[in-house]
Amino acid sequence: MRKIVLLGYMGCGKSTIAEILAQNLHIEYIDLDQYIERKAGFSIAELFANRGEIHFRKIEHESLTELLSQPTDLVIALGGGTPCYANNHLLLNGPDVISIYLKASIGTLVERLSSELATRPLVANLKPDQLPDYIAKHLFDRSYFYHQATHTVSVDNKTPDDIVADVLSKLA
Ligand code: S3P
Repeated sequence: MRKIVLLGYMGCGKSTIAEILAQNLHIEYIDLDQYIERKAGFSIAELFANRGEIHFRKIEHESLTELLSQPTDLVIALGGGTPCYANNHLLLNGPDVISIYLKASIGTLVERLSSELATRPLVANLKPDQLPDYIAKHLFDRSYFYHQATHTVSVDNKTPDDIVADVLSKLA
């Protein structure tokens, strides 16, 4: 069964777009971070704080494997780091998986993330003025994995409906 997987950096809009896209396609939508939180019984921030990032990445890999093997069509919003760990990018090359990289510029990401630092464990200890350099470097490190996606859709200066229309045109 078909899995439409949205990936991209924190703040690129994966969850918002996945929800609207799933409504358009009349299929179910699952947010991987929420799935992990339900499975683990802890928030992502608690998992990072209490068990560490390596443990989180292990649960993330298990959860992605579970979702990709569900016997239904699904739209799945990944976490920002999901394609970059545990060879998850190879799972995304599976025959029934269509992956879409929601590509945002550094400027867009800085603007969106600067008001949400506290809720995101990877950037929670940064000062706002450190964010542009951090994102630039991190995005560069992750870019190889993000560009393995089947399709890329730019999200800068677009409304969620515009982005969903662009994704649907890639799927057509
Ligand atoms: C992460 C992104 C987060 C979450 C975790 C790690 C990352 O997801 O999975 O905090 O490594 O970029 P979002 O991209 O949905 O914020």
